[in-house]
Amino acid sequence: MPIFELFAPCPRGLEAPLAAELREIAKHTPLNVGAEVPGGVHFRGDWPAIMAANLNSRIASRVLLRMAQRSYRSENDIFELAVEQEWEHWFTHLQTLRVDVTAIKSPLRSLEFVTLRVKDAICDRLRDKSGDRPNIDTTNPDVRVYAFLTATHCTLYLDTSGEPLFKRGWRLDKGAAPLRENLAAGILSLSGWTPGTSLYDPMCGSGTFIAEATQMALGIAPGTHRSFGFEKLKRYEGKTWTAMKGAALQHHREAQGASADLGIYGSDISGDMLVKARSNLERAGLPEMPLKQIDARNMTPPFDTPGILIANPPYGERIEIRGPRGELREVRDVAHEMGQDEDDHGFRREQPDQTDAAFFKAMGDALKQRFTGWQAYILTSDRTLPGQLRLREALKTPLFNGALECRLFKFDLIAGSVRQRPAAAGDMPA
Ligand SMILES: C[S@@+](CC[C@H](N)C(=O)[O-])C[C@H]1O[C@@H](n2cnc3c(N)ncnc32)[C@H](O)[C@@H]1O
Repeated sequence: MPIFELFAPCPRGLEAPLAAELREIAKHTPLNVGAEVPGGVHFRGDWPAIMAANLNSRIASRVLLRMAQRSYRSENDIFELAVEQEWEHWFTHLQTLRVDVTAIKSPLRSLEFVTLRVKDAICDRLRDKSGDRPNIDTTNPDVRVYAFLTATHCTLYLDTSGEPLFKRGWRLDKGAAPLRENLAAGILSLSGWTPGTSLYDPMCGSGTFIAEATQMALGIAPGTHRSFGFEKLKRYEGKTWTAMKGAALQHHREAQGASADLGIYGSDISGDMLVKARSNLERAGLPEMPLKQIDARNMTPPFDTPGILIANPPYGERIEIRGPRGELREVRDVAHEMGQDEDDHGFRREQPDQTDAAFFKAMGDALKQRFTGWQAYILTSDRTLPGQLRLREALKTPLFNGALECRLFKFDLIAGSVRQRPAAAGDMPA
């Protein structure tokens, strides 16, 4: 059985949890985890390893199969490398193709031109071998090829995932500003949360943390209900995949009867978001989880046993609005009043800084006063968050939410010794 060189890209900051996850997968399906590099993890394995990684990885964005790697100086060198590869062994000219190129410190001027050259090379090769060129489809291609350029080397990858792996196949209504599923799963892993420990997301939005955690608690593989790019490749082992997917589906069926009493709880101030979260959970085939409409400033622990509170509050412009009497109002109504597009988020702020400062101070008070013994993990792009909460972070981890650089702040709300901090310079007075 051939052993392939594989690479799993992931959101930056999640390389270590991804490597740990691959080592877990390796306990059931042989694969060798290699180096962690910024933005992903190298590993090696055969077809079952490719399938198992696609089916079970919560943190990888894709699983890429390395076709070739060589030094280059010009676009022509890259063309030559691409034209030499036996693409005809993997797919046919009847399948549609998409090529993407990414580069770090490449001396070449135009990545579009490199993309074109790689595309040409693959199409020329298939025309020579089978008499015709494949069509290009950038939206819904059958086959995706990636070229990755460093200053000196070009690596060609064949994608085995198709749609990125954070698309689990059940999210229809994205809600507003949902977290990518693999980022949510990575944060759960960084927090050290394991099934059985109390988990509370007081700003659960469309329910990404809740859905990921529930699947983890029930042992449901994240890719159980989606298809993968490798299913369209010539060489994939259909029988092995049928058995692997069948087992995952069977496991999900058995888990469906499980009680929702998993120690996982979500709340949000927006009733609309809770409706979306519930229908997402339903589409994911998960039990009805406890979700409640609560303003995070008034939150109380949903469980007697302290655990982990995890949240990604609205960023920047995307926060709740204060009505004229100081109460929160959903912008859905206000947007209509102001003739604004309600598309970007369910909430908009009128007096941004004061609203933020007052809100986060109140949220910090709630954490300090009511969540003794809990650990709170908050993802935000706002580095002044600890100051606004009046809490001193125990840890901060840089993470990328797409292109947005964020910090995952950890706060230990230890009994009798909550690490408070004075208001930071520039914090708004409460
Ligand atoms: C960035 S979104 C969270 C997205 C969520 N993690 C997801 O994946 O869908 C922030 C959420 O905070 C909620 N929110 C805003 N103000 C709130 C408040 N005062 N109390 C509780 N939730 C609030 C919004 O309704 C929104 O769903």
